[in-house]
Amino acid sequence: MPCPCCQPPDIDGIESFFDASRAQTEVDAYLRAGLDARSARLIEHLLNNAGGPLSLLDIGGGVGSVHYELLRREIAASAVAVEASSAYIEAARSIGRELGLDDRVNYLHADFALSADAVDPADAVILDRVICCYPLLEDLLSAAADKAGRFLALSYPRAKWWVFITFKLFNLYLRLKRCNFRTYLHSHSDVHAIAARKGLEPVHADTQGLWQITVFARA
Ligand SMILES: C[S@@+](CC[C@H](N)C(=O)[O-])C[C@H]1O[C@@H](n2cnc3c(N)ncnc32)[C@H](O)[C@@H]1O
Repeated sequence: MPCPCCQPPDIDGIESFFDASRAQTEVDAYLRAGLDARSARLIEHLLNNAGGPLSLLDIGGGVGSVHYELLRREIAASAVAVEASSAYIEAARSIGRELGLDDRVNYLHADFALSADAVDPADAVILDRVICCYPLLEDLLSAAADKAGRFLALSYPRAKWWVFITFKLFNLYLRLKRCNFRTYLHSHSDVHAIAARKGLEPVHADTQGLWQITVFARA
C-alpha cells in the first residue's frame, strides 16, 4: 500500500471538510472579532516591512481574513485568492461585499499545485495553515515560492511531540468519521530547503499555539 504522503491529493476531501457551515462559523468569527492571533502574527512582518501596497496571492486563503485585513490596512492593493473549497470562496466573497472590498480580490477555485500556471506572480504569497492540508509539499510549496516576488509567508504545525500527537489524533477522528480529509506534518527542513532552492531566505519566525510562522524574503 502506498504511503499516504505519496497518494494523489484528495480535493474532494477538502471540499467536504471545508464546507459551508464551517465557512460560516469562520465568517462570523472574523466579522465579530477580527483576525485571529495566528494570522495576526503571520502578517506582522508584512505590516512592518512591506513599504508600499503589495499585490497578494493568498493560497488556501479560506474565508479571506488575511487578504481582507491587508487590504483594509492598505498594505495590499489587490489580491488573488486560490482556494480549493467552493464554500470558502462564497464565504470570502460575502465578507468582501460586507467590507466593500470585493472588487479588489479575484477568486480562483482550484488546487493551486495543479493550476499555478494560470496564476500571476505577486509581491507577497501567503499560505496560512495550508501546507498541512496537502500531501504533496514539493508540488504546492515550490509552485507557491515561484510566484513570490518579495515575500512568502507561511504558517504550519510546529515540530513538537505534542503537536504531532494532536494532529495524529485529529486524523484518527477524521478516519472514524469517515471523512476523506487528512492533515500532514511536513518536515521543517524540507520547507526551508524548498524556499532556499527558490532563492528565498527566512527573515521572520514566530510561534502561536500549535503553529510555526515563517516569513521568507527574496534574497
Ligand atoms: C485550515 S484552512 C486555512 C484557511 C485560512 N488560510 C486560514 O488560516 O484561516 C486550509 C485551506 O486551504 C485550502 N487548500 C488546501 N490545499 C489547497 C490547494 N492545494 N490549493 C488551494 N487551496 C487549498 C483549503 O480549501 C482550506 O480552505
